[in-house]
Amino acid sequence: MTGKRVSKLLASAAVFGVFATSAVAEDVEVLHWWTSGGEAAAVGVLKEDLQGQGVGWLDMPVAGGGGSDAMTVLRARVVAGDAPTAAQMLGFDIKDWAESTGKLADLNAVADEEGWDDVVPAALQEFSKHDGKWIAAPVNVHSTNWVWINKSALDAAGGKAPENWEELITVLDAMQANGITPLAHGGQAWQDATIFDAVVLGLGADFYKAAFIDMDEGALGGEQMVEAFNRMEKLRSYVDDNFSGRDWNLASAMVIEGTGGMQMMGDWAKGEFLNAGQTPGEDFICIRFPGTQGLVTFNSDQFVMFDQGGASEAQFAMAASVMNPTFQSAFNVVKGSVPARTDVSDADFDDCGKKGMADFAEANAGGGLYGSMAHGHANPASVKNAIYDVVTAHFNGEYDAATAAEELVNAVLAAQ
Ligand code: BGC
Repeated sequence: MTGKRVSKLLASAAVFGVFATSAVAEDVEVLHWWTSGGEAAAVGVLKEDLQGQGVGWLDMPVAGGGGSDAMTVLRARVVAGDAPTAAQMLGFDIKDWAESTGKLADLNAVADEEGWDDVVPAALQEFSKHDGKWIAAPVNVHSTNWVWINKSALDAAGGKAPENWEELITVLDAMQANGITPLAHGGQAWQDATIFDAVVLGLGADFYKAAFIDMDEGALGGEQMVEAFNRMEKLRSYVDDNFSGRDWNLASAMVIEGTGGMQMMGDWAKGEFLNAGQTPGEDFICIRFPGTQGLVTFNSDQFVMFDQGGASEAQFAMAASVMNPTFQSAFNVVKGSVPARTDVSDADFDDCGKKGMADFAEANAGGGLYGSMAHGHANPASVKNAIYDVVTAHFNGEYDAATAAEELVNAVLAAQ
């Protein structure tokens, strides 16, 4: 949308009383957690796009994958009466902010004008709207059930990409025998939980849904959950001893360099491989976590705008920019994610991106699409954090698998 169209929109919305004032701000201060090399490259695409429309970018980065630290900083700023113009946010956090604070700007004027209702999948709209109004602009769709494998390390381990749990273990064993760290991982709760997403999904879509979305006690504490924790223990045995506290992008770097065999991580990891000049199919390969083919656990980065006494021209320009189809292609090609709109061509995407788009469309149409627990799209932050605690305590050897399943039930019940 051009500056002129934004002004027209503001003018007509003001006539209809849609927003209180039409204060114009020329800069947007954006709070986000995109601080790794690949993420920063994607931020550059957004910044440039906005600058092209005369909207300046004031950077407010808060390091910490998964965004928990960013949410803490955001809360402190809002409480102090110093909300940023816009903030990156995930799933249930958006719902929570909308319900509990009422401070999010209403984006309906721009959403209606641009027809967002028709192009954003319902699974995303579920988080972008509150009381029928658009309160967030989705910039992408990521998914968590991916594995990123060093191509040479896989060739040395037999060359066959694993399609089920048993084949995965065979490849990990072979990598171990070849003297590399089979599983590159960073010991941070959200990273442990990202693997757990995929392990639980690998034991069945119904099980994933029952445990994480319906929060069914039988699923949370039953035999399948004990098996999920057993599998986490097995995976832990392929991680090196220095994993504690390691950032996710440093684990990606191990796979890029070949000291690590594979990483189980959302598709933001692809941004690191691309940023290092690597090519899918040649230097690395991307596969769905073995046993989860056809299923997708998604999360979507969305931008909410803070209502600062009326929507500003810059906020509307940013929302329109984020949703522009050309921008969605350019941004997501770099970020590793796929567009949040259904009408964007996959022509500019690499093979992993094309697969990501096809998988998402297939899962969305066929009922195989589920919100990611680890990335705030299955349950509220209180429940997510309770699950994180149990998964990490178990991964670090505090509980055996049976105790972890019992603790999971207690933690989720207490958090609701
Ligand atoms: C976000 C991604 C981000 C990743 C690691 C996820 O929660 O959706 O955009 O790259 O965390 O920081």
